[in-house]
Amino acid sequence: MSAPLNVGIVGTGIFARNKHLPTFQQESDKFRPVACFNRTKSKADAFAVTAGIEASKVYADLDHLLDDDNVDVLDVMVPVQFNYATAKKSVEAGKPVILEKPIEANLEQARKLVQLAESTELPVAIAENWLHLESVPVAREKLAKIGPIAAFTYNSTGPFHPSSEYMATTWRQNPEHIGGFLSDGGVHQLALLTTLLGDVGSIAAFSSQLRKQSGTDDIVFSSVKLRDSDVIGTFTYGSAFGATEKSVFLKVFGLNGSVTVTISSGKPTTIKTMIGATGEVEVQEETVEVKEQPFFGVEAEFVNFHEAVTKKDKSLVKGTPRVAFHHLAIVAAFLESSKKNGTAINVEQP
Ligand SMILES: NC(=O)c1ccc[n+]([C@@H]2O[C@H](COP(=O)([O-])OP(=O)(O)OC[C@H]3O[C@@H](n4cnc5c(N)ncnc54)[C@H](OP(=O)(O)O)[C@@H]3O)[C@@H](O)[C@H]2O)c1
Repeated sequence: MSAPLNVGIVGTGIFARNKHLPTFQQESDKFRPVACFNRTKSKADAFAVTAGIEASKVYADLDHLLDDDNVDVLDVMVPVQFNYATAKKSVEAGKPVILEKPIEANLEQARKLVQLAESTELPVAIAENWLHLESVPVAREKLAKIGPIAAFTYNSTGPFHPSSEYMATTWRQNPEHIGGFLSDGGVHQLALLTTLLGDVGSIAAFSSQLRKQSGTDDIVFSSVKLRDSDVIGTFTYGSAFGATEKSVFLKVFGLNGSVTVTISSGKPTTIKTMIGATGEVEVQEETVEVKEQPFFGVEAEFVNFHEAVTKKDKSLVKGTPRVAFHHLAIVAAFLESSKKNGTAINVEQP
């Protein structure tokens, strides 16, 4: 068995502490945190103690961390307007890098990140954990039974949580990334939608800001047409409402049946399949439950990154910048369409 990859962590905030570090501890044969850097050094010092990183390996700046030959790969969890600059430095230092989502703050910067990733043999990954959900291959297998697919409705909605620790981060309160919470959480939903059904070609949308704490629009209701097929659908997203269940509901309609995927916090994902060409035949019905990983695919995304790095094969990366660009580009199209009173907008390509 090969030695674990030595990880340099950039940004030791909430998600580093709550999800990435426990993932490294769980996958300790694959990853070992060895160095870190954070804007506020005292937080990096505290993180290092928890992570078992030597005090001398808490760096005061990114360049010193990159100069450390013992660091094999970078794990970046900073406000996303720093993703491209950080990835560029990492690639220049010869180190593969995984960066948290959304890919960047806007499409211009995201495009540069795609070009960077496509100009190097080093794996560059965007940590879009919903691409790695256990329910994805199961839903795909069911979808293959109801085709051709004609339409879908996707609804991911939830109540506002003003005291959530994420709400307290200043970079979310005053977002430099387009769409604020719409892109922060929305790219997860768009990752799941597009990995199951294909890329979005055009959309017509209305977005709106319900909560001043969101800093910008926080809900979107849209009509969608896929790029490489005639599939049409609706996409609704927002966690800014009054009391309601937090859930994801995707119903896909085919000419030979339907598949309904329901994700509710704390419960297994359910996937219901109904097969039958009309309402007048005997319908075959089946519901399966799929248990997601505790960190909702973060574990699998790191196993995927490890495989790409150790095999020196960037084509193994699932969450490539090109894939992640598409999710942010859909959010950009929502915002543009809404600004133009719901006019249909083509989703930009990298
Ligand atoms: N996949 C998911 O489900 C998921 C969930 C949550 C977050 N994330 C992603 O993880 C990343 C971090 O989010 P978080 O929730 O952990 O936020 P966070 O706690 O605010 O962490 C961000 C880190 O970046 C640092 N930072 C803030 N502003 C900076 C600046 N101007 N220059 C340099 N560093 C700066 C902060 O340093 P200070 O200590 O100085 O503030 C902090 O350590 C984001 O990309 C976010 O989208 C992903």
